[in-house]
Amino acid sequence: MKLLSKTDGNRRGAPWRLSWFPLGVVALAALWLAACRHDNENSGVAYSFAVLGCNRVDVPSLDDPSTANLPQLQRTLAEIAAMQPPPDFIFFTGDLVLGMTADLATLRRQLEAWVQVYRASPAGQNPAIRLVALPGNHESQVPEGSNQCGVSNPGAEAVWLDVMAPFIAGDNGPRAGGPDQLQTDQSRLTYSFNFRDTHFVVLNTDPVGAAATVPVHWIADDLGAARQDRSIRHIFALGHKPAFTPSDATPDCSLDSNPSVRNVFWDEINGASATSYLVSHAHLYNRSQPASPTAPGVIKAWQVVAGNGGSPVDKKWAESGATPYYGYTVVSVTNDGRALLTGYGRNFDLANYIAPSPAQQYPTTVRDAADITVP
Ligand SMILES: [Fe+2]
Repeated sequence: MKLLSKTDGNRRGAPWRLSWFPLGVVALAALWLAACRHDNENSGVAYSFAVLGCNRVDVPSLDDPSTANLPQLQRTLAEIAAMQPPPDFIFFTGDLVLGMTADLATLRRQLEAWVQVYRASPAGQNPAIRLVALPGNHESQVPEGSNQCGVSNPGAEAVWLDVMAPFIAGDNGPRAGGPDQLQTDQSRLTYSFNFRDTHFVVLNTDPVGAAATVPVHWIADDLGAARQDRSIRHIFALGHKPAFTPSDATPDCSLDSNPSVRNVFWDEINGASATSYLVSHAHLYNRSQPASPTAPGVIKAWQVVAGNGGSPVDKKWAESGATPYYGYTVVSVTNDGRALLTGYGRNFDLANYIAPSPAQQYPTTVRDAADITVP
């Protein structure tokens, strides 16, 4: 299914200063891949995908209805598009826009403006790249009094499904009711699809009436079927909220705020030997390999928090001694069945997170590289 309607060949090139810049990124990635290269020719990259989330600003601007951190978003989309070959997918794991409003017209305007930004970007102009977007709590919830976790925003799911329809890649998810007792139809918010020898599972982590949960009954069935499929070699799950809040992130109503559901979920992920659960929500980059809560000896799947897309970074990240950075994560699947992760990042003006981000001043470099293959 072709997700993006391409208008013409009027592909917008990156600014000149970006034209040389991604070469450095590609070179570093090539070095990393070369370091992991086996001696046979089957170790080449078969396909890849990029992941990022949480790019929304915290104060809307009259000049920019998208509420995106444009300098970071546009640079990231240009760099991803400049990869050779470009990734097959970009997964945007939620909090694209500020949202968090009961005014659904405002939410719609923000999302429509965001889509315009994406379509005008080099990534949006490249028909070889498919964007798959997931809602975050900023697209699904509204604040409520003393409830610091927010509550479901009635009608927000319908706005998302309408505006973001071109960037939804499946419809086999759970419907209302069922064993997961869902209040609304989640079939196009939580779903799965296969690409080559990978099974992708896209999860809405804030379904109406069940914030910070995932439908574990549907997930069990879906993962079970994927594991029965002999053509599937890898499983990657993607969502907005982490299953485990990193130690250098501020707890913020993630899946671990409902530990009984989270424990079942992570047991399922580990039980299916999924490679990774890639998320955002926490505004930092973090990679960990959490053990199954009910079976501490079972350590398989990686949790990758790629929540450093451009929103104000988590204060605890800097307090940990790290230098916060914005960027994106790329997973490359090799012909011989390995999954190689590369985290790219660029420093930024810590006093003004929405400031312009010139490549000369803030070069993007490899910040994390790992073989995350799960046997
Ligand atoms: Fe979030």
